[in-house]
Amino acid sequence: MQSTLSSLFHDTDRYLLSLKAFSAACGKFAIYDQWVETIFQQTVVPQLKGALDEQGELRVMGVGSGSGEMECKLFVKFLQHFPRINICAVEPLQEQLVKYQALTKSKTSDLRGVNFEWRQQTIEEYEKVEEPTKFHFIVAVHSVYYFDNLEDSLMYLHSILEPGGVTVVVIMSDDSGYFRYWDHFRPFHDKYNFISSADVRSILDRHTIPYSQQHQPSHVNITSCFDDASEEGSMVLDFLNHVTRFKESATEDLKQQVLERMASSECSETSGDEILLNNDCDTIIISKPR
Ligand SMILES: C[S@@+](CC[C@H](N)C(=O)[O-])C[C@H]1O[C@@H](n2cnc3c(N)ncnc32)[C@H](O)[C@@H]1O
Repeated sequence: MQSTLSSLFHDTDRYLLSLKAFSAACGKFAIYDQWVETIFQQTVVPQLKGALDEQGELRVMGVGSGSGEMECKLFVKFLQHFPRINICAVEPLQEQLVKYQALTKSKTSDLRGVNFEWRQQTIEEYEKVEEPTKFHFIVAVHSVYYFDNLEDSLMYLHSILEPGGVTVVVIMSDDSGYFRYWDHFRPFHDKYNFISSADVRSILDRHTIPYSQQHQPSHVNITSCFDDASEEGSMVLDFLNHVTRFKESATEDLKQQVLERMASSECSETSGDEILLNNDCDTIIISKPR
């Protein structure tokens, strides 16, 4: 496989632009609204209510919080049930934390009762903290792909979860077109791990940790990736492959193989003129017995 392809994660500016283009192409933030109303309100809140008394302070950790859109939506809802929430947001990219902080400032009145501790760190760096806080709720949305060692970090997170607490991991489903695409092209990714919900489940099964799973249908509109002149398409393609400037750096042959595979019926469906890559996700809800 080509050695000139460089990891998107090593180019922060491009990573953030590509992430933005990808998020728009999959309507990510609209999906989050739906999750907050369903999974979190209906499944997580009742479990957390059992873990602490309603007047108590809810301690929450966000892992790879990004710019905080998802977490803020969640915390506004949680405030209806828990009047005081302490959040530890662990996110290595300063640019993302700055956006998250700006978002919280713009929502000061909605977030009254929430206190933030900002940690510009990877989870691996956080793991070195001596006598870490124990949390009632830990949330990792599409961030576990970047962990150095999935099993070690999942076990660490479980160790800092209070008895009765809940961890939620949102990750690409092993039954998604995007994963079938990845599975085919895995050699040209480095820092990004080829993992799906099946990897998380198998670790939890091995450690006999109870969990449940909910499946969310989703897709990414990849039509623009097939338009050579589209800058947006170029950024979506970068994010999908986690390669910086994929169109410019890949050989014609590889580009063709990638686009063919992405558009294949194993990975995508068409709707009118649009090509939609199946991007189904699984939400794994891990409960720590009391
Ligand atoms: C795809 S983004 C998801 C952001 C956010 N959770 C969301 O859903 O909008 C992945 C995030 O994980 C962060 N990340 C990368 N490596 C990490 C690590 N080792 N530990 C924790 N977070 C990491 C990235 O900086 C990035 O903000």
